[in-house]
Amino acid sequence: MIPEEKVREVAERLSIVEVVSEYLPLRRAGSNFLGLCPFHAEKTPSFNVNPAREIFHCFGCGAGGNAFSFVMKIEGLSFPEAVKLLARKSGVEIEERQLTPAERKSQDEHVQFLRINDLTTAYYRSVLLHSAEGEPARAYLGNRSVEPEISEAYRLGFAPDRRDGLVKHLRNNGADLECAVKLGIVRKSDSGWYDLFRNRLIFPIRDARGQVIAFAGRVLDASLPKYINSPESPLYHKSSVLFGLDMALPSVRTGNAIIIVEGYFDHLALYRAGVQNVVATCGTALTATHTGLIKRHAERVYTLFDSDNAGKKATIRSMELFLEQRIPAYVVALPSGDDPDSFLTQHSAEDFAALRDKARPAFEYFVHSLLAETPPDSVDSKVRIIDDIVPRFRKIADLVERDLYEKEICRLLGITVHAFRKRMGGGMLSDRDAASTSGKTSHTFDNVQDTLLALLMYYPEARSKIEQTGPETVFSGDHLEIARLLLSSGDDTVLSRLAEIIEKPEQKTLFSRIMVSDGYLADIEWLTVFDQCRRSHEKKQVSSIKDIASRLAVLDAGSEEYELLLKQADSLRTRKSKL
Ligand code: CTP
Ligand code: MN
Repeated sequence: MIPEEKVREVAERLSIVEVVSEYLPLRRAGSNFLGLCPFHAEKTPSFNVNPAREIFHCFGCGAGGNAFSFVMKIEGLSFPEAVKLLARKSGVEIEERQLTPAERKSQDEHVQFLRINDLTTAYYRSVLLHSAEGEPARAYLGNRSVEPEISEAYRLGFAPDRRDGLVKHLRNNGADLECAVKLGIVRKSDSGWYDLFRNRLIFPIRDARGQVIAFAGRVLDASLPKYINSPESPLYHKSSVLFGLDMALPSVRTGNAIIIVEGYFDHLALYRAGVQNVVATCGTALTATHTGLIKRHAERVYTLFDSDNAGKKATIRSMELFLEQRIPAYVVALPSGDDPDSFLTQHSAEDFAALRDKARPAFEYFVHSLLAETPPDSVDSKVRIIDDIVPRFRKIADLVERDLYEKEICRLLGITVHAFRKRMGGGMLSDRDAASTSGKTSHTFDNVQDTLLALLMYYPEARSKIEQTGPETVFSGDHLEIARLLLSSGDDTVLSRLAEIIEKPEQKTLFSRIMVSDGYLADIEWLTVFDQCRRSHEKKQVSSIKDIASRLAVLDAGSEEYELLLKQADSLRTRKSKL
């Protein structure tokens, strides 16, 4: 643990411009500095650094924060690691605070865990490479054309057909076997310790920084289960790990999209073919945590799942997640009967590139595969298709896209837009619809809120005025949450340090975007902006009450959604009456 005073000292000593300049050239532009963003590919600079506020923000990809966040992101470090690195550079000596016994224990254990995984990787690897017991696995890899350098890149190994080969290796190296049990790779029974993996080819699973956190083991024949994976452990949470991310990042950082596959061998096949921007889920369906992770690194994603039914289902489920998180997603469709591995054993990397270039937007793929399954040749089937489409259609964030899809769907089904909208639920408007119907106003409302939030940190008078009336009378949504944070932090808080407290990615982006430019604020009459915000806020409240009323009209009284909306309307009314 690094004491807070030390973090503060480091923060005070360093200049964000110096820190960033070590990684990319910056040039002065007004009171800010400007450069090409290191976190996404761009030709015109949109990466801004505000030296006075010690904040950076990229208007292209939304990355933002303070010097610590910059170093964390670019070096792939944790917060304490970034602080230590910058402490060394700024000449601050960090003596770590004495850990509490509990902290010391968990830290020791963590170090043990990583060491055990390294020992395990090395053990399986040496069996694969050097021992007679490794021969079947060497033959297997030979059959699947896995060359030595690929085997090395994945640090593949082989678990021999022995009860306690790993146990002995760990014991000989002085590892704590209880820790190995917590990692799930060793088990304990009345008759002693024994290995989880036996007679299996081993894929170490690594995190984004390349540390081994778990293992997967594949049989060498057709027996079942084909794979065994190490269980969830303090190091390994499978719903938030993407296999191969560490290998993909260098390529993804140069602006490539992320390609998602389902199998370890699919990953390997692509990597071998020179396609490095690939990750695989580890024997689990894609989760929102996965997609969040993807969004942090790439602007677009391709799914490349098997062409069978399970693969199609996975494709559609993942599309929903991508729509929800607004990540542009494309589907690479494989010839029927193929998975990525089988495709690449028969075709060249160029053939794959051609396939990828033909990838369709996920939603388009979804609608077309739905129609291929259920031809819209009767009223009944059309209704069924629409009912499948509607809940997903609602998740499309982009209005232009929505409009185009609506037309396309109606054309394909031979129905009118009016009929489609009616099926969508008449007055049933989602929050996004509500924002879009009020279109321009809600957009400008966001802009005014941006400005007011910036002013709050610029004019003490603005701050006290907002404190007086309450931030909820002028802000809403993410703006409101950030405003509350700003107001609750003391006067001596360094603005840039707040970037560390904000957790939600969209709020982080909003915060750095608003705070990175402050030159223009000096000429602004803050009270005017305040009044504008207040009026827009009132208007929005009124219009959302109207929306809710029209939604209520088409719902069954007493249904869950109805009750929920009713509550929302009530709370809006009370808030409004307080204005
Ligand atoms: N999987 C698993 N447990 C199983 C079967 C599959 O965890 N019993 C996961 C693995 O992550 C696997 C992925 O699902 O990589 C895809 O399964 P499959 O296509 O069967 O495996 P591949 O890795 O493609 O292996 P292969 O090419 O050897 O069939
Ligand atoms: Mn497969």
